[in-house]
Amino acid sequence: MKDYTGKIVVITGAANGMGKELARQFAAKGAKLSLADIDAENLAVVEKELKAGGTAVITDVFDVSNYEAMEAFSKKTFKTYGKVDFFFNNAGVISVGSIWEQPLSDWKWLFDVNVMGIVHGIKAFIPAMIKQDKECRIINTASIAGLLTVENSPAYVASKFASLSLSEVLELQLQDANAKVKAHVICPAVVKTDLNHCTRHRPKNIYNENDPYYQTKDYKSRADVMNSAIVVGMPVEEAVKIIIDAVEKDIFYILTHPVYNPAITARVAGIMAGTRPVKVKR
Ligand SMILES: NC(=O)c1ccc[n+]([C@@H]2O[C@H](COP(=O)([O-])OP(=O)(O)OC[C@H]3O[C@@H](n4cnc5c(N)ncnc54)[C@H](O)[C@@H]3O)[C@@H](O)[C@H]2O)c1
Repeated sequence: MKDYTGKIVVITGAANGMGKELARQFAAKGAKLSLADIDAENLAVVEKELKAGGTAVITDVFDVSNYEAMEAFSKKTFKTYGKVDFFFNNAGVISVGSIWEQPLSDWKWLFDVNVMGIVHGIKAFIPAMIKQDKECRIINTASIAGLLTVENSPAYVASKFASLSLSEVLELQLQDANAKVKAHVICPAVVKTDLNHCTRHRPKNIYNENDPYYQTKDYKSRADVMNSAIVVGMPVEEAVKIIIDAVEKDIFYILTHPVYNPAITARVAGIMAGTRPVKVKR
């Protein structure tokens, strides 16, 4: 096991799922942590658990779609620890629906969190990370849904294609700047987390839970597909081990489920051949 003693690891979306497991595994390897989430209750539980195990932890509760709050989190992290070695831009949410039927506010929410949240993390942390002038890493979480189109969750897929492509541009611009910051993008397929319960922290100003669409058969059957896939997803401990191992091996596109690699190849072949998209077999 690589020793992370003295390393500073920052994680957004650290109260549940992969963010929480990243925090646990890096704590076990000796790192100091700066953790953020919109979920104050579960973040406090994670903080308590890790502090009890002797890990240095600071936390901040905010919505990643709020740039000023992300900037304050960055300042607090650098003020406390003086540096950042690994920044996991991980917080994300999902919605399901039919493009021409689901409320437009689903799109706003997903793009605010999954795209602008990542952009906010980059803008708030990267300048100071470049200034450190020593090797450090930013790891953005996209999804296999940033490489393959799945028909159940259009806003999610579109937001993850955006977060994947902006991670590629980030890496190219870091290279152009001769920065010692390296970028990665995580593209997991289904992992058993709390992602399917993410509406509990959806801002009320972009959520009408009484919208009739959420009572339709179309919505309910798509939600069933999502729920039944997540509960049999890869265990979060296994996914996070793969992710940390890939970061250590300097892999840019971090794929956790090789079973989908042929579908990625087939997508590119389909683009070259000009054929219509086909459903990904699960
Ligand atoms: N679980 C999967 O199958 C899967 C697959 C591919 C990618 N991902 C991505 O992995 C990342 C982590 O998700 P997870 O699966 O661990 O889900 P999760 O719901 O268990 O964890 C996500 C965390 O992000 C936090 N969060 C949500 N909105 C936020 C906001 N606006 N501001 C701050 N924090 C916010 C949540 O409170 C939660 O703690 C997400 O970006 C997700 O899209 C998940």
